[in-house]
Amino acid sequence: MIQGRRVQLRAIEKEDLGFMHRIQNDEEVMSWARFRPDHMVSLEALEKEYDSELKGENTLRRTFVVVDRKSGKAVGWCSLRWWRPFATTADFGIALDRGFRGRGLGTEVLELLTRLAFEQYNMHKVELFTRSDNKAMIRAAEKNAFKVEGRARESLYFDGEYTDGLALGVLRREFERLKGGAIKVRGGEKV
Ligand SMILES: CC(C)(COP(=O)(O)OP(=O)(O)OC[C@H]1O[C@@H](n2cnc3c(N)ncnc32)[C@H](O)[C@@H]1OP(=O)(O)O)[C@@H](O)C(=O)NCCC(=O)NCCS
Repeated sequence: MIQGRRVQLRAIEKEDLGFMHRIQNDEEVMSWARFRPDHMVSLEALEKEYDSELKGENTLRRTFVVVDRKSGKAVGWCSLRWWRPFATTADFGIALDRGFRGRGLGTEVLELLTRLAFEQYNMHKVELFTRSDNKAMIRAAEKNAFKVEGRARESLYFDGEYTDGLALGVLRREFERLKGGAIKVRGGEKV
């Protein structure tokens, strides 16, 4: 379990699949976070994905449930992916339920995932891709030293409209500078 001040990141349990199913079928949530043209996923598909992760078949992604420490509730999910072979760059996915946004939780989740990428997975860089009108995502990333690296013009198409996509990224040394010191690797050895 990864402990933050206000959130915890923990492994997905079978009991979380109902929550994941609800949130991944929520049109508003998925209008920001979806990765396919529609916003629907069946419970069976989520179960299959879960079983596949349990068997260790997906070695290029770690997905966590975000828990609000105050209420103890599951309030979202996030993932860290490294999908390009031989790359030392990771990529994020994140979505919080409607009632839990705008309270600083997303900024903290991003910080925890960035730390995880650098401290445990020894990544050199972390990236994310988002809609150019996703102000909360862009700001939460900037607060973790991410910089806008590029704008993919009209690259996203949802609901009959084209939207620009923004690529943001942070290098390990930039994050370390923000946090005021070298990121430690497992075991406490400075790098
Ligand atoms: C994007 C998301 C993870 C951000 O997390 P969050 O907890 O809502 O954001 P925070 O409360 O940490 O706020 C981060 C910054 O964005 C600002 N912000 C938050 N919501 C905002 C909004 N709707 N419009 C403009 N700024 C906003 C905050 O004021 C804060 O900046 P500040 O500290 O300078 O004031 C969350 O809103 C979310 O899950 N949204 C839906 C799914 C999604 O967009 N996923 C990302 C796909 S790439």
